[in-house]
Amino acid sequence: MRRLRSSKAVRSLVRETRLHTEQLVYPIFVIEGVQIKNPVASMPGIYQYSIDRLKEECERMKESGVRNLLIFGIPAHKDAVGSGAYDENGITQRAIRYLKQEYPELLIIADVCLCEYTSHGHCGLVDGCHILNDETLPLLVKMSVSLAQAGADIIAPSDMMDGRVAAIRAGLDEAGFLDTPIMSYSAKYASAYYAPFRDAAHSAPGFGDRKTYQMDPANGREALREMEADIAEGADILMVKPGLAYLDVLKEASQRFDYPMAAYNVSGEYSLVKAAAANGWVDEKRIVMENMLAMKRAGADIIITYHALDVARWLQEEE
Ligand code: PBG
Ligand code: ZN
Repeated sequence: MRRLRSSKAVRSLVRETRLHTEQLVYPIFVIEGVQIKNPVASMPGIYQYSIDRLKEECERMKESGVRNLLIFGIPAHKDAVGSGAYDENGITQRAIRYLKQEYPELLIIADVCLCEYTSHGHCGLVDGCHILNDETLPLLVKMSVSLAQAGADIIAPSDMMDGRVAAIRAGLDEAGFLDTPIMSYSAKYASAYYAPFRDAAHSAPGFGDRKTYQMDPANGREALREMEADIAEGADILMVKPGLAYLDVLKEASQRFDYPMAAYNVSGEYSLVKAAAANGWVDEKRIVMENMLAMKRAGADIIITYHALDVARWLQEEE
């Protein structure tokens, strides 16, 4: 075996997996207000920006070569029905309009979920402590259509209500967005790895947890059923989330389904690496690149990661 490891050139010749900047998606957080650039304490290097300062992040993206972003809005007001999520002048809608006008070359993926907008912090409507499924669907449709109207290129539902992909597909088509793809958070687990994100997006549930709608971490085969359902409902791209902790699911799904597969390298996975690197316990660049390769090797076509700009820069340096 060592003959093919004997030099940099030969290792490069036989390398099976390569990363490409084109496949990276960078999540950004946009907050209501002016002149805001708030560091997210649990995610070093990640900030919440007000719309007037978003250009700083866009310039950094441009420099790195990353063209794809996943946008999350943080509204000033929350209510029981998440009105801000489907308000045409909502924070996310305005941010998308700004981005489309100033940076038309960027591909905008819009996360669809109510939890950033609801006073109770759940991803759907609630009745007592019950999270309502079918009653939530029309709101997700309204949100998707308003984000598409604002200029979102891809709609990405992350709420985990049953039947949402079919409802959103029908709603988008009816509103004339026949060409807007749906990237479904198909296999989204009820994970402790989302904790830093909930700081960043102010979306922690006010009571209980998300276990009645997000998947049980113990289940692998069920993820394939989720994906089958999403395919039948019209999803264009499937996602596994978290990415790193569920490589087995990613591998199996990518072999079973001939659909583009996305892996979401989530906030907790990012923060663990950043914390260890800050302590000098690991080499950040090598750890991150190894993590990226792991997701690609397992079958990810698309990688959503808070490391995206660093990864792109490191790939440039290697050239
Ligand atoms: C909203 C949403 C979450 C994430 C993406 N969209 C949080 C959650 O479900 O609680 C997590 C992303 C991350 O941890 O990086 N539903
Ligand atoms: Zn949510």
